[in-house]
Amino acid sequence: MNLSISRRIVVSAIAFIWPLGAASAAIFKKKKSGSDVETSTKPTTPVSLTVNGQARQLELDPRTSLLDTLREHLYLTGTKKGCDHGQCGACTVLVNGRRINSCLSLAVMHDQDEVTTVEGLGSPTALHPIQAAFIERDAFQCGYCTPGQLCSAVGMISEAKAGWPSHATADVSSRHIALSDAEIRERMSGNICRCAAYPNIVAAIRDVAGGASR
Ligand code: FES
Ligand code: FES
Repeated sequence: MNLSISRRIVVSAIAFIWPLGAASAAIFKKKKSGSDVETSTKPTTPVSLTVNGQARQLELDPRTSLLDTLREHLYLTGTKKGCDHGQCGACTVLVNGRRINSCLSLAVMHDQDEVTTVEGLGSPTALHPIQAAFIERDAFQCGYCTPGQLCSAVGMISEAKAGWPSHATADVSSRHIALSDAEIRERMSGNICRCAAYPNIVAAIRDVAGGASR
């Protein structure tokens, strides 16, 4: 008797719970799609940048990286996306004179900042000395890494001039850092070249920085 009641209770309970479960799943799905609708409204944030000397006003999804802002919103496609993870340096730009990986930085973090991309270093008729040196030294093959290499080289030469030591600096207390090949290699180690144009890149930077080959 007890067994029969128990079985009936169990079967009834399953019959009752099953539609409830299905209904709650449907509600969950509805809520999920509801929240998708909410996120699809994409709230934006105003961002003001000075890019290559030009003031730019933008309304951006606050999740937009500086790299995507430059490429997708300002159509400055000189800056390249390699890994999008801070590992290759192809996206290097100068922000207030300092080099950064633009793929690792949100544009909203740079409101009112000055950004220089490879397009702002020089022009075809008035190349930046580092651009001229790269051509002179044949410091690229496919050229994909080159915009990042150029911005990084400009940034690292300034860092050395300012007396910032690197892992390769013998005397870290010295304010006068000679850019030896070892210094250049160390300071440019965040910029990967898959064509392995490294010897020529080092030579080009040495030409501009005035370092001695060592
Ligand atoms: Fe930014 Fe590779 S794309 S470091
Ligand atoms: Fe091809 Fe550097 S020149 S990746």
